[in-house]
Amino acid sequence: MSTIIRNGTVVNADQTFRADIYCENGKIVAIGPDLDVPSSAEIIDASGQYVMPGGIDPHTHMQLPFMGTVATDDFFTGTAAGLAGGNTTIIDFVIPAPQESLLDAYKKWREWAEKSAADYSFHVAITWWDDSVAADMETLVKEYGVNSFKHFMAYKNAIMADDETLVKSFRRCMELGAMPTVHAENGELVFQLQQELLSKGITGPEGHPLSRPPIVEGEAANRAIQIAQVMDVPIYIVHVSCKESLEAITRARNEGQRVYGECLAGHLVIDDSVYRNESFEFAAAHVMSPPFRSSEHQSALWKGIQGGNLHTTATDHCAFCADQKAAGKDDFSKIPNGTAGVEDRMAVLWDEGVNSGKLTMNEFVSVTSTNAAKIFNIYPQKGSISVGADADIVVWDPEGTRTISAKTHHQNVDFNIFEGKTVKGIPTHTISRGKTVWANGQLNVEQGAGRYINRPAFNPVFEALSKQAELNTPVAVKRT
Ligand code: URP
Ligand code: ZN
Ligand code: ZN
Ligand code: ZN
Repeated sequence: MSTIIRNGTVVNADQTFRADIYCENGKIVAIGPDLDVPSSAEIIDASGQYVMPGGIDPHTHMQLPFMGTVATDDFFTGTAAGLAGGNTTIIDFVIPAPQESLLDAYKKWREWAEKSAADYSFHVAITWWDDSVAADMETLVKEYGVNSFKHFMAYKNAIMADDETLVKSFRRCMELGAMPTVHAENGELVFQLQQELLSKGITGPEGHPLSRPPIVEGEAANRAIQIAQVMDVPIYIVHVSCKESLEAITRARNEGQRVYGECLAGHLVIDDSVYRNESFEFAAAHVMSPPFRSSEHQSALWKGIQGGNLHTTATDHCAFCADQKAAGKDDFSKIPNGTAGVEDRMAVLWDEGVNSGKLTMNEFVSVTSTNAAKIFNIYPQKGSISVGADADIVVWDPEGTRTISAKTHHQNVDFNIFEGKTVKGIPTHTISRGKTVWANGQLNVEQGAGRYINRPAFNPVFEALSKQAELNTPVAVKRT
């Protein structure tokens, strides 16, 4: 199986240049002008187009059992939709129920994911704590290629991690060289605000953002960051949606702390007016946590990306249909939280970021693939057009357009939060480990073609931090 991409302009995070790219057996094997290749190679003409690393969505939830139902995009339909949008890798989440063994949950998710059409990996959530959790974390890191653990600071009475769990797990993460990540919202405040709003008769989706104001997110982000500082461990904050948590990240980074921020395509372009829409279905379809925010937060997030304090973009793809959202018809706190977007992230980011001059093309590549690959230690296998890298490539037509709609998208869900938006800049070809799986509007995917990606522990930042910790090891005072 070999493919040559001719006449395109390669865009990596660090440079842009004209070259052909030759892929063989799933890898990029040659890059250069006018490459000589076997005549049997499939030829893709990329004249007038950009050739970039396939997207990495570091935050998805395919077929997640959540809030009494199961997300409708499974690992096949969800990854296939991603490929249609130029996204070649997802990092999804294993979420053990409280008291469930981490290893059992991990194995269950691995089975579910076997039908993936694109490459995938897993963060594992720490939803409870005892010695077996600490032991399983080690096994997951050393034997199963897991190098990040997720902590939900929200979802009280379900999967919420309390401060004791955060402290113990962050310490364990540092010992193992694994990145702690957090969903930062103060779960106690959310819970109390929900009860207050419901008792005042606010039962519709407008109650959702009212129960999760920005400060609730900012407090949790700040707390997690400061716990990480005490534990000397880097930290990654998922779906940063507001100024308050961005400020916590920025402040810590200015002090030299290794803090990374992720933001979602949806939070960058959709505002909180959706929750006051008169249609319950429309408003409920936007219920996700943290909620969409007012426009001042959106412009802060763009500046966070430009200023280098937000590093990755994701979708938190977690698809629920209208019939599932209806579970919260009389109580907004029962609306399954989640929205889709794995197919749309790249185009929305290009259209709103590159076309407006907010982002350079190279920055686009950084925040759609390279930075995630570096933070989660799979660079340059992923996130790079370079010899030896996986042949995960998107050929991008900056003049092509698409009007996003649930009627035409490949996601298995009846709603699209970007409905009606016309984006300029679309993938004409997606190549997943050397195979052309999306070409000029046609998907050619295979169930099970995706591969599990092992992620080694101790990315270079851990090495640096370990060195610092060693030099700063406290010593007892010797007294006679
Ligand atoms: O609303 C959301 N984001 N649902 C998925 C679970 C999570 O919090 O990431
Ligand atoms: Zn979350
Ligand atoms: Zn999520
Ligand atoms: Zn449905």
